[in-house]
Amino acid sequence: LPPTLVLGIETTCDETAAAVVERQSDGSGRILSNVVRSQTEEHIPFGGVVPEIAARAHVDLLDGIIASAMKESGVGFGQLSAVAAAAGPGLIGGVIVGLTTAKAIAMVHDTPLIAVNHLEAHALTPRLTCALAFPYCLFLASGGHTQIVAVVGVGKYVRLGTTVDDAMGEAFDKVAKMLGLPYPGGPEVERAARGGDPARFAFPRPMLGRPDANFSLSGLKTAVRNEASRITPIEPQDISDLCASFQAAVLESTADRLSVGLRLFHEQFGPPRALVAAGGVAANQAIRGALQDVAAKAETTLIIPPPALCTDNGAMIAWAGAERMALGMIDTMDAPPRARWRL
Ligand code: KG4
Ligand code: ZN
Repeated sequence: LPPTLVLGIETTCDETAAAVVERQSDGSGRILSNVVRSQTEEHIPFGGVVPEIAARAHVDLLDGIIASAMKESGVGFGQLSAVAAAAGPGLIGGVIVGLTTAKAIAMVHDTPLIAVNHLEAHALTPRLTCALAFPYCLFLASGGHTQIVAVVGVGKYVRLGTTVDDAMGEAFDKVAKMLGLPYPGGPEVERAARGGDPARFAFPRPMLGRPDANFSLSGLKTAVRNEASRITPIEPQDISDLCASFQAAVLESTADRLSVGLRLFHEQFGPPRALVAAGGVAANQAIRGALQDVAAKAETTLIIPPPALCTDNGAMIAWAGAERMALGMIDTMDAPPRARWRL
């Protein structure tokens, strides 16, 4: 069988991205190109992603990004097996730009369209870089999502836990903002925490010991705000101690929630082949350490895809499209853009 060649388009948040991926009939994958243009610069003045600005930037950038991805891959539009776009969940303006562009390409070149769920793409990414069999457990923590998902097969996902309020990356961003650190805050909080005392502030460990595998982060965020407001003037060492204490609370809560999630996984699906972490928060070294411990205790291996594939990118959309294509799961031209779309 000839390899499947898929163009993937990602525009659900503030990355404009396109990639071409090849999937062999034995299930192995190869990235032929992966072009990502982050809009962080455009959003910095506002301290967060502004949906209207993001949508307009996608309109300006997407054609050029797709052209680069195609050129770099050496694949012509006529050779593509399918065009895949993230059809949600995400900021609807951006989703419309990406999905409509994919539909136009599919129509002009008479190529199948695949409308990919962005979360599904994160879930399937480890199978692009290694030979990982189902079922495995995914921990996805980004600016918009915090979920524990049983990945049972292509199109077969069971959500074991989710946040009841803020996403984990969002909590890092908000803590950074209240302490006067720049956006995006996750890496800044991690950096500040390195020189800080994690025991100085006894912040709450949200959801600790609960029988479900859900997360909560807004109470912790408020506790940080309350402590910070009591310190005047606030010195760099105070900021470091606040960040270290916040991060320690996140770590302990995450380890507890994930160990429950892995237990639920085991009860329903047997032993997971791996614990996979994805999303921007998985870049955090301290969190990686905690995940390593959780995986070891649950007698499974931890897999974290390379950073460029953990954060939003086109290759993950193309790969999810290729996995669906292999099972004949193609979509029609009326596939809707979706702001909300549960796995
Ligand atoms: O996956 P991602 O790049 O984009 C989406 O949100 O989809 O994740 C970005 C989020 C931001 O909230 C950012 O602050 C957080 O991931 N993040 C981190 C770190 N690096 C990025 N959070 C904690 N520690 C980090 N080192
Ligand atoms: Zn994402």
